[in-house]
Amino acid sequence: MMNILVTGGAGFIGSNFIRYVLKTDSGDCVINLDALTYAGNLTNLSSVQNNSRYLFVHGNIADETLVGKLLADYHIGAVVNFAAESHVDRSILNPRQFVESNYGGVSIFLNCLKKFPGTRFIQVSTDEVYGSALNGQTFSETDSLNPSSPYAATKAGADLLALSYYKTFGMAVCITRSANNYGPYQFPEKLVPLMISHAVMGERLPVYGDGQNVRDWLNVLDNCRGIDAVLHRGKPGGVYNIAGHNYHSNLDIVKLILAHLGLSTSAIQYVADRPANDELYAIDDSKIRTQLGWTPQVNFDRGMAQTIDWYKNNRDWWQPLLAKVKNR
Ligand SMILES: NC(=O)c1ccc[n+]([C@@H]2O[C@H](COP(=O)([O-])OP(=O)(O)OC[C@H]3O[C@@H](n4cnc5c(N)ncnc54)[C@H](O)[C@@H]3O)[C@@H](O)[C@H]2O)c1
Repeated sequence: MMNILVTGGAGFIGSNFIRYVLKTDSGDCVINLDALTYAGNLTNLSSVQNNSRYLFVHGNIADETLVGKLLADYHIGAVVNFAAESHVDRSILNPRQFVESNYGGVSIFLNCLKKFPGTRFIQVSTDEVYGSALNGQTFSETDSLNPSSPYAATKAGADLLALSYYKTFGMAVCITRSANNYGPYQFPEKLVPLMISHAVMGERLPVYGDGQNVRDWLNVLDNCRGIDAVLHRGKPGGVYNIAGHNYHSNLDIVKLILAHLGLSTSAIQYVADRPANDELYAIDDSKIRTQLGWTPQVNFDRGMAQTIDWYKNNRDWWQPLLAKVKNR
């Protein structure tokens, strides 16, 4: 039983992870430190807000005083760092914000953590740090990093910095690099919720380029299980890929959504591609499978159908958020 400091827990994966931890009978308590940027949303956590094992703290991972106080006051056993600017398009418009949070924030946080050598630190990273794969190629954890977007570059930088704290200061750092997540509570600027919300509203569905860029899709609960496995059993200094094994082009995802909703593909609108849009993300996850016994459990067709239905039935959740994207 321990106190876990989850950062960025009011976002998509973080809120799913907090609900996941609180559903287990581990007795672990969660302190959620979140700056509540446009992507942070406390309604994601309304089902646990009165749980005696949960506490929300409004603040930034780059606030040295606050972070130091939380680590000391709550005897934190482990930190899971989800806090980040996470939308690639925004990183192209405003890279600086990404450098400040994703790299600078992690740097300040790690420095505070030096005073707490017994505390584990899990840096939640992404398959995007490896850059684009060739057809048939999968990246393993020892492959070099070759990020394309400012978002991926800041995540790669944070991975290297976190690993340097393991090597230099002996801190118990682990890294997870997951594929694209899908599931409930994802901010509606990302492909899956954006397309579902546009389809439900009868609007055009903007697809980048020819829509042939391929991503590997991982159910968010499978990612939570993987992160939990690394949190409890990961080897210090270990990097763990978490794959979905569900390779689909963006266009196929959009067509699947339209088919599930019984709508025609005529709403698809091809728009100018994102600069440096990687063709394919593909990772080898044999390490987490063999060393930590993790395997994905959610069938893609079923998980995606449930996800589409969730957004269809929770318009009150995404409609106000979509307005924020449109007014940007
Ligand atoms: N979504 C994916 O498919 C995916 C895939 C692989 C890795 N990741 C990584 O997982 C993590 C979570 O992604 P997500 O999709 O849930 O993101 P998200 O944008 O939905 O949530 C990010 C959360 O972090 C908070 N935040 C941002 N900067 C902060 C700061 N400086 N201090 C404190 N809180 C801050 C935001 O308020 C928000 O609640 C990110 O680190 C991302 O790089 C995401």
